[in-house]
Amino acid sequence: MEMRVVILFLFFCSSIVVLLIVPTAEAISLGNETDKLALLAFKKGIIKDPSGALNSWNDTIHFCDWEGVSCSSQQPQRVITLNLSNRGLEGSISPSIGNLSFLRHMLLMDNGLYGEIPGDFGRLHSLRVLNLSFNSIHGEIPANLSHCSELITIQLENNNLTGVIPAELGSTPKLKSLALDNNYLNGVIPPSLGNLSSLMEISLLYNSLQGDIPTELGNLSKP
Ligand SMILES: *[C@@H]1O[C@H](CO)[C@@H](O)[C@H](O)[C@H]1NC(C)=O
Ligand SMILES: *[C@@H]1O[C@H](CO)[C@@H](O)[C@H](O)[C@H]1NC(C)=O
Ligand SMILES: *[C@@H]1O[C@H](CO)[C@@H](O)[C@H](O)[C@H]1NC(C)=O
Ligand SMILES: *[C@@H]1O[C@H](CO)[C@@H](O)[C@H](O)[C@H]1NC(C)=O
Ligand SMILES: *[C@@H]1O[C@H](CO)[C@@H](O)[C@H](O)[C@H]1NC(C)=O
Ligand SMILES: *[C@@H]1O[C@H](CO)[C@@H](O)[C@H](O)[C@H]1NC(C)=O
Ligand SMILES: *[C@@H]1O[C@H](CO)[C@@H](O)[C@H](O)[C@H]1NC(C)=O
Ligand SMILES: *[C@@H]1O[C@H](CO)[C@@H](O)[C@H](O)[C@H]1NC(C)=O
Ligand SMILES: *[C@@H]1O[C@H](CO)[C@@H](O)[C@H](O)[C@H]1NC(C)=O
Repeated sequence: MEMRVVILFLFFCSSIVVLLIVPTAEAISLGNETDKLALLAFKKGIIKDPSGALNSWNDTIHFCDWEGVSCSSQQPQRVITLNLSNRGLEGSISPSIGNLSFLRHMLLMDNGLYGEIPGDFGRLHSLRVLNLSFNSIHGEIPANLSHCSELITIQLENNNLTGVIPAELGSTPKLKSLALDNNYLNGVIPPSLGNLSSLMEISLLYNSLQGDIPTELGNLSKP
């Protein structure tokens, strides 16, 4: 009788221990819930996924192992790359992507994405490469992309972007490549782009831009 009680007690204790330990271990090994929620919101915005690219984005698989997602190796794991290029995806890009605070590479080119570029992208302070080229994205280029101070590459060519090129883009100091060709951009080329001292490549062809090429751009010394 006593033995049974002890065994039951031990069993009871060990289940408590298990209950106490498991959530803690999960919190560490499963990475940051914020990133998972942001990715799930992105998935919700995709209404066509002909190649089933997002099929693996389910609860049985850790989000760092979802197709097209790569995470940092240190704990808690954070999403650093979202690479879903050329998957035939259609839909809009959820503003919640702005919650992926550690994202460095956003590669969504060669899809059928439409909708606008969310202004929340301005919160991606680690973003280095933004490639949304060859989609059907419309609306304006958000000025606050300039808050992404680590940006090296902005490729938005071959979309349906309208409005002006934001002068603020002249304050992304590390920018090496800016491709905006084949859109419906208008207005003048902002002189501030002459302040992009790292710029090596700029393509603005096939838009409705007006005026001259600002003399400030002549100061871009890189070949
Ligand atoms: C998850 O990330 C968010 C935003 O970066 C942060 O505020 C939060 O503290 C993080 N949570 C954990 C458990 O690391
Ligand atoms: C994104 O972050 C904001 C503020 O931290 C939060 O209110 C919102 O619910 C988050 N969205 C998602 C989809 O995680
Ligand atoms: C989750 O995704 C994996 C890989 O695509 C798949 O094998 C599994 O059946 C999916 N699980 C659910 C519950 O959909
Ligand atoms: C992105 O994914 C494609 C196809 O899966 C792959 O070929 C390419 O190397 C990846 N690029 C990066 C920067 O991860
Ligand atoms: C960027 O601008 C949009 C709207 O213009 C706003 O909703 C968003 O919060 C802004 N983000 C930052 C980081 O300023
Ligand atoms: C961006 O995507 C375009 C179209 O696929 C490709 O030509 C270009 O090399 C990509 N650039 C980067 C930096 O990934
Ligand atoms: C984008 O522009 C192309 C060419 O003008 C047009 O055929 C297409 O319908 C537009 N897409 C959207 C989503 O506006
Ligand atoms: C270039 O940067 C300098 C220093 O930050 C600033 O004073 C100037 O107004 C900028 N030029 C343009 C055309 O924005
Ligand atoms: C180009 O740079 C030189 C010095 O680096 C400066 O004196 C000149 O005003 C700049 N020209 C323009 C048009 O910004």
